[in-house]
Amino acid sequence: MFRHPVNDHIALKLLELQDAPALYDLIDSGREYLREWLPWVDQTRQVEDTARFIQTALGQFAASNGFQAGILYQGQLAGVVGFHQIDWHNRNTALGYWLGASYQGRGIMTAAVQAMVDIAFNEYHLHRVEIQAAVTNRKSRAIPERLGFTQEGVIRQAERLLDRFVDHAVYGMLAPDWFQYRHSRLDLGNNRES
Ligand SMILES: CC(C)(COP(=O)(O)OP(=O)(O)OC[C@H]1O[C@@H](n2cnc3c(N)ncnc32)[C@H](O)[C@@H]1OP(=O)(O)O)[C@@H](O)C(=O)NCCC(=O)NCCS
Repeated sequence: MFRHPVNDHIALKLLELQDAPALYDLIDSGREYLREWLPWVDQTRQVEDTARFIQTALGQFAASNGFQAGILYQGQLAGVVGFHQIDWHNRNTALGYWLGASYQGRGIMTAAVQAMVDIAFNEYHLHRVEIQAAVTNRKSRAIPERLGFTQEGVIRQAERLLDRFVDHAVYGMLAPDWFQYRHSRLDLGNNRES
């Protein structure tokens, strides 16, 4: 099965049904913190809900429409990063992500998203990757900003979270800009994820 090492501590793996209990536990233990930003958390009430999500994600992978990866940190499931879908005609995609509460603050997601963008451009030969985050979600916005994405605008009231609509900041990365960014980081010997 798909497994993609990111660095000595982090790897991506295609989510499989056997991951459902660990993934559900991660969601359940971070429920209060995750539900502020992720509308599906309150609908995830038992392990079967997580198994259904993984089943759908496997269908997405089988249909060549991207995939959802579990993020392993020192062998433990720490979070998820995934392609929302792939628009093959326009060669673009968008990424979503979350981490278990105790795995924040170590650069895990920045490294995982960098690996996913590499896959999008180097393996899928896409042209554009987009990331959207609520304007007030500073930790999420910091990830595309750290990786050299351009903020292209704000979509008003793009998402309903808990009891309110929130604006989304839209970040985009184009393939030529990514190759230049990655090249310049290698030149600087500044590959922070390693
Ligand atoms: C969004 C989310 C994934 C960000 O998590 P995160 O831990 O801040 O992101 P990273 O794993 O990239 O870690 C970055 C942090 O680690 C620090 N860090 C340590 N080593 C690092 C390294 N080698 N590289 C980059 N950052 C590093 C950074 O300084 C930063 O900490 P700071 O915010 O105190 O400055 C997480 O907060 C989350 O899951 N939130 C809830 C769900 C959510 O909002 N999802 C996104 C919806 S759009």
